[in-house]
Amino acid sequence: MKYLITGGAGFIGSHFVDYIYRKYDDLHVTVLDKLGYSANLENLKPYFQRSNFEFVKGDITDANVVAKVMKDIDVVVNFAAEVAVDRSIDDPVSFLKTDVLGVYTLLQEARNQKGLRKFIQISTDEVYGQILEGSFSEESVLKPRNPYSASKLGGERLAYSFFETYHLPVVMTRGSNTYGPRAYLEKVIPLFITNLLNDVPVPVYGKGQQVRDWLFVEDHCSAIDLLTHQGVSGEVYNIGAEQECSNLDLTRQILALMDKDESSINFVTDRPGHDLRYSLNSSKLKALGWKPKYVLKDGLEKTIDWYRMNEDWWRPVREKLDQRYIVGFWGGKKTQTIGGGR
Ligand SMILES: NC(=O)c1ccc[n+]([C@@H]2O[C@H](COP(=O)([O-])OP(=O)(O)OC[C@H]3O[C@@H](n4cnc5c(N)ncnc54)[C@H](O)[C@@H]3O)[C@@H](O)[C@H]2O)c1
Repeated sequence: MKYLITGGAGFIGSHFVDYIYRKYDDLHVTVLDKLGYSANLENLKPYFQRSNFEFVKGDITDANVVAKVMKDIDVVVNFAAEVAVDRSIDDPVSFLKTDVLGVYTLLQEARNQKGLRKFIQISTDEVYGQILEGSFSEESVLKPRNPYSASKLGGERLAYSFFETYHLPVVMTRGSNTYGPRAYLEKVIPLFITNLLNDVPVPVYGKGQQVRDWLFVEDHCSAIDLLTHQGVSGEVYNIGAEQECSNLDLTRQILALMDKDESSINFVTDRPGHDLRYSLNSSKLKALGWKPKYVLKDGLEKTIDWYRMNEDWWRPVREKLDQRYIVGFWGGKKTQTIGGGR
């Protein structure tokens, strides 16, 4: 099997590379990544000496480089994306370029690959918008509420249109919030862990009432792997772990696991249009035999241990991090009492 993994130097993409190398012997992996701010070549270090691995620095919007790396590929998994909601509010156009035009460029080249078995478009649960009660199924109405999720939906629906129009074997995944080792530090879990390791308070947006369904990265990868083999072309699959938690509860769990108390919380200005709750019904995927291995507490422990043990990885990253993340992207400390959470 020859894989093209785009965005493979980032968080989930590099874990997917680990996952398939652990699981399969007979494979070749090409990673295409532009090495944007969240990429880290350290993530792929174990593979650079292997003859069945190739890394190409390039942009998925570049049709020439895409044509070169896609030649004779069996499976494309497109992780490459601009992913940060806060950044998308500041600068939507880079999201349109990568998350829509980039997907188009990959799909267009995929049409030339007659032997292509699967094109997996990694989408997100954020394409549904928020849900206050119940859970989203794959048939739910799609109402993305920020430029990131709207761009991801654009790319995802374009992928679907290539299935209908050109019979491209496309499968689309809508994964929930993913965490684990090597996530870029602007994400809430690694940001809070590394703030606490530096004795810096953690910035909780608003009252911390937003609810997310937390999926450990290895579980996200096992679902994607299953779908490369058993996903039905043209179909969308939710990937959720049923580990829902408000941001304040999540913060309290991290504090407890790191022997800190609530004096380490700063409530800060909320994100504009912040989705209140995401929740996924993943029964379609589970019917194929998938189930997540990690409950939130175990995944958090594993993640905290990794950041404790791997300062060499995250300290240089933190030095370059946009400082707004550390204190509150939309504004620093607000006077507020704890207890506003769910
Ligand atoms: N992290 C989550 O919670 C989550 C949840 C659901 C879905 N997703 C999706 O999973 C995918 C990966 O997310 P992640 O958290 O690993 O992000 P990440 O930022 O860690 O990785 C993205 C990678 O894509 C690369 N990239 C960006 N633009 C590119 C371009 N134009 N050409 C080539 N490479 C480019 C970056 O350099 C980076 O290495 C994204 O498609 C995201 O929408 C993420």
